[in-house]
Amino acid sequence: MKAFFYFSGMNKILKIGHRGAKGYEPENTLISFEKAIEMGADGIELDVHLSLDGHLIVIHDETIDRTTNGKGVVNELTLQELKSFTINEKYAIPTLDEVLDLVNQRCFINIELKGQDTAEKVVQLIEHYISDKNWNNNHFIVSSFDWNALQQVRFLNENIRIGVLTESNLDLAISFARFMKAEALHPDFQLLTNEYTAKIQERGIQVFPWTVNEKEAIQSMKSFKVDGIITDFLDLL
Ligand code: G3P
Ligand code: CA
Repeated sequence: MKAFFYFSGMNKILKIGHRGAKGYEPENTLISFEKAIEMGADGIELDVHLSLDGHLIVIHDETIDRTTNGKGVVNELTLQELKSFTINEKYAIPTLDEVLDLVNQRCFINIELKGQDTAEKVVQLIEHYISDKNWNNNHFIVSSFDWNALQQVRFLNENIRIGVLTESNLDLAISFARFMKAEALHPDFQLLTNEYTAKIQERGIQVFPWTVNEKEAIQSMKSFKVDGIITDFLDLL
């Protein structure tokens, strides 16, 4: 098994596969996560929603319309119903525990909460993998644009690593990240500058911009010395 590093204090920029290896395989599928690991990902990013019967489902949108051959709202479908649809005619929508079992500690997992209703279940699942399956907190980072969901995570467990997602106000996100004792700030890469990167890191917070897919933008992020880069194209890093 490859050596596992989460911390970036080694002048290493962490490679994080967005929805797995979205540039090469259908997003948020087991094959996409496996591909990302094969491509040398230090971490994978994925999105979670709750099914009608309370399972954590790995899918980006609120509906299954764009990515599967079905139609409907994830929150209004049971796990069994969700499993009856396919992605690209052959892949099933994975649950979060299926992804964790596939990854099996080979890289860390950035779980993006797509709604407040997912926070408690995600905390419970992380706690289960840590206490019963020998995982540790370095294997996880929980992020969300829904800062209430992040507050809920922090209220339930003070050790889980948190990534504050933002696509607009970096100053506000920095204040919130400090208040939350967040591990990282995940900004839209277009917001980031050299000065902002330094300002965030000086406060002991790591910087993981998304979704950086162009060579020029990747070069800029590297020149800012960000801690990790979330990308669809891991090979460009
Ligand atoms: O976590 C970074 C990025 O995934 C956020 O945007 O829309 O791809 O979930 P989105
Ligand atoms: Ca995401």
